[in-house]
Amino acid sequence: MTEPSIPTRRDPYVAGLRRVLPALLRDPLGTLVGLADASPGQVVRLNLGTIRPYLVVEPAHVQHVLRDNAANYTRAGDSMMWKSVKKLGGDGILAEGPQWEASRRRLQPHFTAKRIDAVVDGLSQAISDAVDELNVPARTGEPVDAASEISRIICQAVIGVFFGNKIPVTDGVRIVTEQDTVATALRFRLLTPFLPDAVPMPGDRALRRAVQNIDDILLPLVRAERAHDDGGDDIVASLGRGRDEHGHKLDEQRVRDDLVSIFVTATETTYTVLTWLFPLLEQLPDVAERLYAEIDRVVGPGDVINREQLGELRYTRMVLDELVRAYPSGWLVPRTAIADDVIGGTRVKAGGTIVLSPYVTQRLARFWDRPAVFDPERFAPDAPRRAHRYAYYPFGGGAHQCIGQYFFQVEAPLIVATLLSRFRYRLCTPGMPSPRLAASLRPRERVPLLLTPHRQPALA
Ligand code: HEM
Repeated sequence: MTEPSIPTRRDPYVAGLRRVLPALLRDPLGTLVGLADASPGQVVRLNLGTIRPYLVVEPAHVQHVLRDNAANYTRAGDSMMWKSVKKLGGDGILAEGPQWEASRRRLQPHFTAKRIDAVVDGLSQAISDAVDELNVPARTGEPVDAASEISRIICQAVIGVFFGNKIPVTDGVRIVTEQDTVATALRFRLLTPFLPDAVPMPGDRALRRAVQNIDDILLPLVRAERAHDDGGDDIVASLGRGRDEHGHKLDEQRVRDDLVSIFVTATETTYTVLTWLFPLLEQLPDVAERLYAEIDRVVGPGDVINREQLGELRYTRMVLDELVRAYPSGWLVPRTAIADDVIGGTRVKAGGTIVLSPYVTQRLARFWDRPAVFDPERFAPDAPRRAHRYAYYPFGGGAHQCIGQYFFQVEAPLIVATLLSRFRYRLCTPGMPSPRLAASLRPRERVPLLLTPHRQPALA
């Protein structure tokens, strides 16, 4: 679809404070989708009182910001989220400018399809070992928390593949817990991006403590790797012997910043999105049945899934593609405009906050048929081509496109198929949880599961 032709430059449509704010507080995601549906082809300025971000959702406009004129849209500005992310991830792959560029260049080789394909067997084994730990609660009938279990499985996978098993999984799980504290503590700052850091806010102390706890786990590892090159090809080893643009050994802080950033993005994005799957499948027996049937056909009892089996999990992948459409963990991708610009005929001012949201764009009624319906068939191989590349961008686009996309596309079906080939589950609390908006889109309520063994040779 091409950009709508708008003859003159105009100011954005402004959604007024009194109308928008109460609705946003009541149902932020529904309100944003409603506003976007009601203003086709337009950039909407949200009047939230002290902040007035531009909501940019039209796929052609998203492309303008992320790709065509990306140089004008930075993560380094005052935009609510990135200032907060920086407190955890520092100045590396999640930042902007030369530091980001150098980090991206250093990390990219670890995320190529060739590199990930080469570690599939190890990844699958790590996932299988982690899933095995659920045998006990499945036998005793003890409920398990979906998010905690999925994040434990992911920690084991990520620590194995990217961290050369150099930290214990229990430490990885502690980092995820501290991350949650950071996400909660940052909510106050996210709501008040205009306040300088010098103004104390609730959550500041918890934030500092959580970052300190993460550093207490990772810094000894960073120091050991910088002092002694073990010749490994994991990310820790390669950053430990890394050189900066002047040929000097990377300093401790830069290694730390990238390790933390990779750990955080690799775990949080994936466990939040996969947690939605369990309540969803309970609502959608047809999808669940087809998914179970595929997994039972492809994966034998107790199998550690191999590459060939992974390739056959086609419906599983369609379900996951739809899952990141409907519940993209990176629901918010903000930028700050460096100079005045015109997006699709609408003026935006220098310094303005630009809010891109894969969640909103991926639910626009003019680009998606029945957008509120969860339908994996949208991603069937013979489904019609999408109207625009940026009608679906759960992994972003342009130079900052998600470095872990391919890893996710391999890891997620392995996790889902390993789990569901060995267990069936019931929700302790039926129904869909409501979303909780943090840096990622997560279920507000916990999702406790009652597991039962399914086709396990050891348990039969
Ligand atoms: C469902 C899973 C995931 C989703 C929805 C997701 C989403 C995104 C999005 C939207 C961006 C773009 C941010 C921007 O433009 O500012 C991004 C960037 C990034 N993602 Fe992911 N991601 C996922 C999984 C992962 C995984 C598994 C990893 C690591 C193993 C990862 C690492 C990163 C990193 C490091 C960046 C920053 C790249 C850069 O700025 O150069 N992500 N991700």
